[in-house]
Amino acid sequence: MGILRALRCPKCGWESPSKTTFQCTSCKVLLEAIIEIGHLTRSHLLDIRKRTDRTIWRWFEFFPIQDRLAIVSLGEGYTPLLKPKLLSQELGFTRLYLKNDTVLPTGSLKDRSNSVGLSKARELGFKTAAVVSTGNAAASVAAYSAAAGLKSVVMVPRETDPSKVAQARAYGATVVLVDGDYDNDIAGLYSAAVQEFGWYDCRSTNPYRDEGKKSYAYELFDQLEDHIPNWIIHPTAGGTGLYAMWKGYNELLSLGWAHRLPKLVAAQSEAAAPIVAAFEKGLSDIEPVVVKETVAESIKIGNPKSMGWRALEAIRGSKGTAVALGDDEILEAQSLLAKLAGVFAEPAGAISVAAARKLRTQNVIGKDDMVVCNITGHGLKQPSVVRLSDDDLRPIPPDIDALRKRLGGPLP
Ligand SMILES: Cc1ncc(COP(=O)(O)O)c(C=O)c1O
Repeated sequence: MGILRALRCPKCGWESPSKTTFQCTSCKVLLEAIIEIGHLTRSHLLDIRKRTDRTIWRWFEFFPIQDRLAIVSLGEGYTPLLKPKLLSQELGFTRLYLKNDTVLPTGSLKDRSNSVGLSKARELGFKTAAVVSTGNAAASVAAYSAAAGLKSVVMVPRETDPSKVAQARAYGATVVLVDGDYDNDIAGLYSAAVQEFGWYDCRSTNPYRDEGKKSYAYELFDQLEDHIPNWIIHPTAGGTGLYAMWKGYNELLSLGWAHRLPKLVAAQSEAAAPIVAAFEKGLSDIEPVVVKETVAESIKIGNPKSMGWRALEAIRGSKGTAVALGDDEILEAQSLLAKLAGVFAEPAGAISVAAARKLRTQNVIGKDDMVVCNITGHGLKQPSVVRLSDDDLRPIPPDIDALRKRLGGPLP
């Protein structure tokens, strides 16, 4: 079982007497789930590796869930780690890997978080879970709530791709589209609602759920047979992924299982890059930015206040970097990823490949460095960005001459 020692303030060390108070009463920062792992020895690692479970729960001891029966799992984790030959050649790498999280149960990385978050909700006896989201977390919370037997309420901005709205609705969630600015109006309404209705809050302000993405570290450690990548590039919005990967790798290092740490890279859209801006200015915390339109809608967050500063710590602690990409670069990476590696990701999910390409061109990343790009959301989440021509949509008669004409000559 996972041994939760405390919910502790990362600034002043205060420990919450309650399991549902998530914020430090004096520092106002998000508390951290402290998991007891000091007793684990190398024989535990061998034991973990003998387990047949191919989900994040293979590493059960590292998550804040005491009761195995409370676990809500849809088979999340242990996603393919691909070594794409043609894409690597195109981008100039010899050891490029893609962590393909598009195949997670609801099509995005959020399932890593919500499997842990909803398991805790069940352990704590909640009846309704809620989240405010740019879309992917909404679908994921809806699915895991359904499997856990909880009701769910999800709020999304009105411009959210209808495919994401449909997905959350299909799982039985009450989906509320809200007009207004995400970081202020929508998040403000949501916080007031959580307060008033007492829902289980599945945002990144939930320290249990934030432990879920540590699973990247454990899985990569397994899949790369104890090798530690030189670089891991993560599509970044709230900063939870960077924080959690850093924590996971540090746990493995502290146990003497891993021999070093990877450099972590935040990849953000130029239209919403508060973490990149704070990194470049040498700030220790985020200055909120006003977001603009971008194809990377799932990572369009201007004020990552709970985890942004921790993501900065992870980037700096790891000697990594942060990079902002324009829409053209993101769409090009999405297209290369699909056409050369066979992985169809939404633009936000493909931004790590755009960042790898840029950092390779700038020679920040070396040709022979081992690089992992997390591919965090499926292309069908946002199909509207794939441009179709008139010919793509115009049917031909069932006739070989018409087919020849349509092909514009024989295919090789
Ligand atoms: C597709 C996708 N990638 C990446 C992220 C980044 O999240 P975080 O920075 O919290 O790990 C999100 C969610 O916000 C997302 O939906």
